[in-house]
Amino acid sequence: MAGVSGSVAVAMVVAMVVLVPCGVVAKTTIEPCSGSDSCQALLGYTLYADMKVSEVAALFGTDPAALLAANALDFSGPGAAHRILPMGLFVRVPTRCACADGVRKSVSVRYAARPADTLATVADGVFAGLASADQIRSANGLASADPDAPLDAGQALVIPLPCVCFNSSDNNLPATYLSYVVQVGDTVPVIAAGYETTVTDIMNVNAMGSPVAAPGDILAIPLPACASTFPKSASDHGLIVANGTYALTAGNCVQCSCGPGSLNLYCTPASLTGSCPSMQCSNSNVLLGNVSTHPTSAGCNVSSCSYGGFVNGTITTSLNTGLQPRCPGPHQFPQLVDPPTTVNHASTFLPPLSAPAPAEAAGAIPPPSSSVQGGGSFTLPKVSKAKGPAAGSVSEAPSMNKPHQILSIFAFCLLLYSQM
Ligand SMILES: *[C@@H]1O[C@H](CO)[C@@H](O)[C@H](O)[C@H]1NC(C)=O
Ligand SMILES: *[C@@H]1O[C@H](CO)[C@@H](O)[C@H](O)[C@H]1NC(C)=O
Ligand SMILES: *[C@@H]1O[C@H](CO)[C@@H](O)[C@H](O)[C@H]1NC(C)=O
Ligand SMILES: *[C@@H]1O[C@H](CO)[C@@H](O)[C@H](O)[C@H]1NC(C)=O
Ligand SMILES: *[C@@H]1O[C@H](CO)[C@@H](O)[C@H](O)[C@H]1NC(C)=O
Repeated sequence: MAGVSGSVAVAMVVAMVVLVPCGVVAKTTIEPCSGSDSCQALLGYTLYADMKVSEVAALFGTDPAALLAANALDFSGPGAAHRILPMGLFVRVPTRCACADGVRKSVSVRYAARPADTLATVADGVFAGLASADQIRSANGLASADPDAPLDAGQALVIPLPCVCFNSSDNNLPATYLSYVVQVGDTVPVIAAGYETTVTDIMNVNAMGSPVAAPGDILAIPLPACASTFPKSASDHGLIVANGTYALTAGNCVQCSCGPGSLNLYCTPASLTGSCPSMQCSNSNVLLGNVSTHPTSAGCNVSSCSYGGFVNGTITTSLNTGLQPRCPGPHQFPQLVDPPTTVNHASTFLPPLSAPAPAEAAGAIPPPSSSVQGGGSFTLPKVSKAKGPAAGSVSEAPSMNKPHQILSIFAFCLLLYSQM
């Protein structure tokens, strides 16, 4: 909360709790789809408690090393999965984005309710706003509409999570999409600047009529990325890696990175597991990722052994040789850092721009009846048709970047509750 006075901080936390029950239902960008293919996306997740890397990974059904790699955190060191990440840390969680009920969403996350869990605490606390209580309720066919009714301990829930892929491109350049939960205090220009994109691009991607987002809305943020060209038969077909990060593939035997200089996917052996198949290019003695250069009078003869996908349990490689004007220097890798032990808002992997509300606070106030709606606007279908024409999906939610606005909405909500 550096730089925010105590009283404002309290107002923000209270507003966070009150907003959703007040009828300001959050909007989420969706992508229509058909067929059964899946694609890769990222979820922006703010830790609701101090958690081990392995616990965060388990929550989202992903691999600890993959989680670390997607955040350019050292994934190879001993005990990397057991490092403790601090509450409030913002991480990118790699997810498989499926096509279900005609829209892209991640449906592979399962959660077993713990004692005292409610739909509201699971949605707003554990999953930090990536799913709403209502979405979890309907995904699981639960009858009770009360988000504060206790769940049965051990009850297994499917947690539908928002993701989009948009053909893994943005403005015809490779991109991967981060589902970002708008925090209290965020503005679209600040989010755009934080991700080195433009307000216009965020508005286009999310089909917004105005550059305004409300806390709890989920925006799709395009991140420049390195695309792969693996064949359909490869189990890692469609692999895409955001600039400045890594991905693990081929059973954690291969690591691929993107950037910082060129946006060409670069893959090398990962040696995280003991038993990996051969990673040598056939008819040569060069290993995956090896580049050899031979200056000639005509230029530089460059040979490289590159990764071609994981096909049928085999690491496919190809040896490419070509003449280039100049010999390339040594490959520059994205920098890997140790997992942080404190939340540092100036860190390189872009934490949320404001501190999260404590999980315990979420859902503390019961929702109003469905007839109570803020501002008289119709609140039912709260999804914007993404990448469609911007007109017609105008956000009517107020910008929540000024404390007096937060306080006035808080007061408005109190008025509503006092009439119930
Ligand atoms: C998706 O991108 C590929 C190239 O990456 C292109 O060939 C294809 O036409 C695109 N599909 C759509 C629907 O835009
Ligand atoms: C990729 O990231 C590096 C820093 O890590 C940055 O300098 C570069 O501009 C980025 N490239 C693109 C295309 O965004
Ligand atoms: C070939 O790649 C391996 C593994 O990445 C590396 O250890 C080795 O130094 C490389 N050799 C050359 C000649 O680049
Ligand atoms: C470049 O080097 C490879 C082996 O490293 C060789 O097979 C090929 O003939 C060379 N090409 C040229 C144009 O020198
Ligand atoms: C995978 O291997 C099995 C048997 O090992 C073979 O029948 C099948 O054709 C292979 N598939 C591909 C795509 O290579």
